[in-house]
Amino acid sequence: MTTITSTEQLRQVVQAAGLAPSVHNTQPWRFLARPDRLELHAEPTRRLQVLDPDGRQLHLSCGAALFHARAAARALGLDVAVELLPDSSTPDHLADLVLTAGAAPSEDDIRLAAAILHRHTFRGTFDDRPLPEALIERLRLDAESESALLHEVSRSEDVLELEVLLSRADAEQEHDEPYRRELAQWVPNGETMPDGIPATALATAAGSSLRQRDFTLSHAAATDGSAPAADHPAVFVLATVDDDPASWLRAGQALAAVVLRAADHGVQAQPLGQVTDVLAYRLRLRAVLGLVSRPQLVLRMGYATSRAATPRRVVDDILGRVAV
Ligand SMILES: Cc1cc2nc3c(=O)[nH]c(=O)nc-3n(C[C@H](O)[C@H](O)[C@H](O)COP(=O)(O)O)c2cc1C
Repeated sequence: MTTITSTEQLRQVVQAAGLAPSVHNTQPWRFLARPDRLELHAEPTRRLQVLDPDGRQLHLSCGAALFHARAAARALGLDVAVELLPDSSTPDHLADLVLTAGAAPSEDDIRLAAAILHRHTFRGTFDDRPLPEALIERLRLDAESESALLHEVSRSEDVLELEVLLSRADAEQEHDEPYRRELAQWVPNGETMPDGIPATALATAAGSSLRQRDFTLSHAAATDGSAPAADHPAVFVLATVDDDPASWLRAGQALAAVVLRAADHGVQAQPLGQVTDVLAYRLRLRAVLGLVSRPQLVLRMGYATSRAATPRRVVDDILGRVAV
């Protein structure tokens, strides 16, 4: 059944997908519109060869784009059926989306899609306000709906363990020359790029005890100008039962579901990726927190107003068409 009738709708869905979070803002995705479906492919040339040898973070990023596409389609009154990894002979072909005319979007659908425009990774100091328990529960359910788990790290001894692991992982990366060279390629040095993370998005929280990734490789760390007061964000580990490409895509969808819901409530997030970049640290994190599931990403979250948008590739660059 040919279901995508409007080119304009298709472009809106793909544009929304392109606003998803991605590791180093690599935007490692490509969409292919066929008469009966929209295909999501990985863009292997955009995989971080040093940081992401097995493509786990590429899959997380593409999973997030997939959730954005689903949310945007639903807000347009389209139902979306998704098949993950439809063809094992082509591993870069990550998902097929079949869009069909559906019921009118609910208020919730519209709010979630609207949050796509005001969700940004926030690296500064959060407001003091704690996240309400009802919102945390909602975020947990959002992750579960995407077959992932959201664990809050709330016990002070667990936060301390996480702080120690983060600092160790970060210190190792700091001395890793190939890591540093690769990171530098994604932090524009004055030039305008359609990807990467501009300096405007990099101001970090002055008083954070959770080590933030040093994108400037200086450790002089541009701060957000706030007083170096203690920062007490809510901290979560996003995890999956298994640890394979399908699970990574699910984790990416859960990531987007959680951060969009949060953004709709005025809450922003920052992944603290250093402690999950390397398998050995993911396993240590799992052990110290006593998790049965596989950690995929750590998030710090809190109330913040973020306008630090990062650039995006244009729709024509990420959307291709196959006529027949
Ligand atoms: C898998 C993954 C890992 C990430 N790791 C980090 C990280 O370690 N530190 C950080 O500040 N942001 C991290 N980010 C956030 C990206 O840098 C951010 O999504 C990207 O720059 C686009 O910006 P935006 O989220 O504001 O749209 C990560 C995002 C993803 C999807």
